[in-house]
Amino acid sequence: MKIDSIRLINFRNYYDISLELNENINIFIGKNAQGKTNLLEAIYMCAEGKSFRTSRDRELINLNKNEAYIGAKVKLDGIDRLIEIKLKRDGAKRIKINRVELKNLRELHSGLIVVIFSPDDLKIVKEGPGERRNFLDNVISQIKPVYRYNINKYNKVLFQRNNLLRTDKLNAQTKSLLEIFDSQLIKIGKEIILTRAEFIEKFSPIAEKNHARLTTGREKLVLKYNPSVKFSNKDAIENSFLEELNKNLEKDLKTGNTSIGPHRDDIQFDLDGLNARVFASQGQQRTIVLSIKLSEVEIIKRERNLYPILLLDDVFSELDEDRRWYLINSFKDIQTIITSADISNIDRISGVRRTLFYIEKGKIRRVKG
Ligand SMILES: Nc1ncnc2c1ncn2[C@@H]1O[C@H](COP(=O)(O)OP(=O)(O)O)[C@@H](O)[C@H]1O
Ligand SMILES: [Mg+2]
Repeated sequence: MKIDSIRLINFRNYYDISLELNENINIFIGKNAQGKTNLLEAIYMCAEGKSFRTSRDRELINLNKNEAYIGAKVKLDGIDRLIEIKLKRDGAKRIKINRVELKNLRELHSGLIVVIFSPDDLKIVKEGPGERRNFLDNVISQIKPVYRYNINKYNKVLFQRNNLLRTDKLNAQTKSLLEIFDSQLIKIGKEIILTRAEFIEKFSPIAEKNHARLTTGREKLVLKYNPSVKFSNKDAIENSFLEELNKNLEKDLKTGNTSIGPHRDDIQFDLDGLNARVFASQGQQRTIVLSIKLSEVEIIKRERNLYPILLLDDVFSELDEDRRWYLINSFKDIQTIITSADISNIDRISGVRRTLFYIEKGKIRRVKG
């Protein structure tokens, strides 16, 4: 897949720009706060229908304007597709694919798949389980779109269950309602747990391979799934989940939260047998993030037989020469959009087609390629 062109109107600090991208490497150079991440954010919007930086769409509209527009002409399997997003300060977001408006924005299937890698991704390794669940959920949704639907459904039931826990007292009526919520939670939760377990099993060896290459065989990376509901085999999940819900009911009634379930899952990155979150150095943690991002691209290629678009936000300068080469060579056949404050590490990329742009105060100038 590839993006042919982009048009932005009143999006963040862009007033009206049109861009054509090449199918290999597109490099955007600009100082701080000129609009580099904003551009990648707009591209990400076309894939996911939402930003990776904020859940408040209003922030995306230029401060002096009331409406914003993002348009992208993309090619999927050789077929043209126009993705258009309109944001309004006082109204709902609207998304059109080939001029037909989408009804359900929670499950956008624009067909465009992007993998973004930014310095912020370090939090996947370093911070709490929520960051790792987000990573997990995003990657799985890219290779199995129905998974996102299950997550949304699960969260809806969870929300209802927690609301019920917060009502004053459980009577016969609310008790039977709780039973219904529990059985729904267990049914959808089991699907989620199984999908996650299956995914980690496939993903871990890919990450191990990429990590071994990046560290010339010095470090062994293994991903482990730590489900909140423990189970010995898949037929035991439902019973075990129900038992735990019952065991924790008293506590859950006190806190108004459900303490057991996939919404409390975690994954662990083990480096040579030790939890990288706790024991790895910052440099090792950065390499883990690079390994899992490379693996994300690889598993999408493998499972869906398509090439996602890679967005590299300001990560190039952090990498040493060998890793930059490894990255570029891994992605020869996929469209890549790189941003950087500094051209010096990038202008030596050769052997692939590249176009160079400069970004300054929301204006983009093409200089080469
Ligand atoms: N809604 C908005 N309207 C106008 N300007 C915005 C808006 N949101 C962000 N900006 C501006 O965009 C700039 C940051 O852009 P960003 O792409 O994050 O920078 P960088 O080039 O460092 O990645 C800042 O100057 C910020 O004030
Ligand atoms: Mg930035």
